[in-house]
Amino acid sequence: MLNISGLSTSYGSIKAIKGIDLDVPQGSIVSLIGANGAGKTTTMNSLVGLLKPQAGQIKFLGQEIRGLAPHKIVNLGMSLVPEGRKILAGMTVLENLEMGAYQRKDKEVQADLAKVFRRFPILEERKQQLGGTLSGGQQQMLAIGRALMARPKLLLLDEPSMGLAPLVVSDIFKVIQEINQEGTTILLVEQNVRQALKIAHYAYVLETGKIVLHGKAEEVAKNPRVMEAYLGGAKADT
Ligand SMILES: Nc1ncnc2c1ncn2[C@@H]1O[C@H](COP(=O)(O)OP(=O)(O)OP(=O)(O)O)[C@@H](O)[C@H]1O
Ligand SMILES: [Mg+2]
Repeated sequence: MLNISGLSTSYGSIKAIKGIDLDVPQGSIVSLIGANGAGKTTTMNSLVGLLKPQAGQIKFLGQEIRGLAPHKIVNLGMSLVPEGRKILAGMTVLENLEMGAYQRKDKEVQADLAKVFRRFPILEERKQQLGGTLSGGQQQMLAIGRALMARPKLLLLDEPSMGLAPLVVSDIFKVIQEINQEGTTILLVEQNVRQALKIAHYAYVLETGKIVLHGKAEEVAKNPRVMEAYLGGAKADT
C-alpha cells in the first residue's frame, strides 16, 4: 500500500532522516520504533505532506505522492493522528470530529460520525464539551476519531500512548488493533515498544535518521539489540 524509498528530510542543515526505505503492506500494522530524536515524527510528517522531503519516493496505492499538498494526500486516503494529539481545545468534540471530514463531499459523513461514536461512546456523551476539557485518554480518542472521519485507507499514528495511564494505554492499543481488523492499514510510531511489537505485523527500527533493522515484528522483538535498547530485556554481559 505504501512504499517509501530513499526518503530524506532536513531542517535547514540538520539532516533528520537520511534515505529511509519502508513498506507498509495492505491490511497490516507496521510499527516504527526509535529513541527520542531518531526522526520518527519527521518521517510521519513527510509522508502526509506537512514537511517537504529533499529526496526519495513515496508511493501510496501506486501513485507518487511526494510533494503533494496535505489535503490531497488526505483525499487519497492517508490520515495522521499527530504527535501530541493536536486537538482544538477551544472547539467542541463534535466540531473537532467534523474537522476531520472537511475535505469530504460524500453523503456518508453522518454515518461515519455515528461509527466513531459507537467506537468511543464517551465522545458522544461529551460531544458538546470543549475538546480541552477532556482527559488525556479522551483527547487521544478524539484525535483518532477525527482522523477516522477522513475515512483513511492508511492511518498513521504518532505516539498515541504518550503520557497516558497504563490502563488507558491498553485501551488505545486495543482500539488500534480493532481499527486494523476492520480493514484499515496502520503505520504506528510508538515509544511503548513492547506493546507496539505485540500488535504489529512488521517493525522498523530508526536510529539517527536511518533504518537499522526491520522485519517481522516478532523477530524484531527477539533481536538482542532491540531487547537491550528498547525492551530493557537483555543484560549487558550476556
Ligand atoms: N522543527 C525542527 N527544526 C529543527 N530540527 C528539528 C525540528 N524538528 C525536529 N528536529 C530535529 O530532527 C531530528 C528528528 O526529530 P523528530 O522529531 O523527527 O524525532 P522523533 O523520533 O519523533 O523524536 P521523539 O521521540 O522525541 O518524538 C532531531 O534531531 C530533532 O532535534
Ligand atoms: Mg516524535
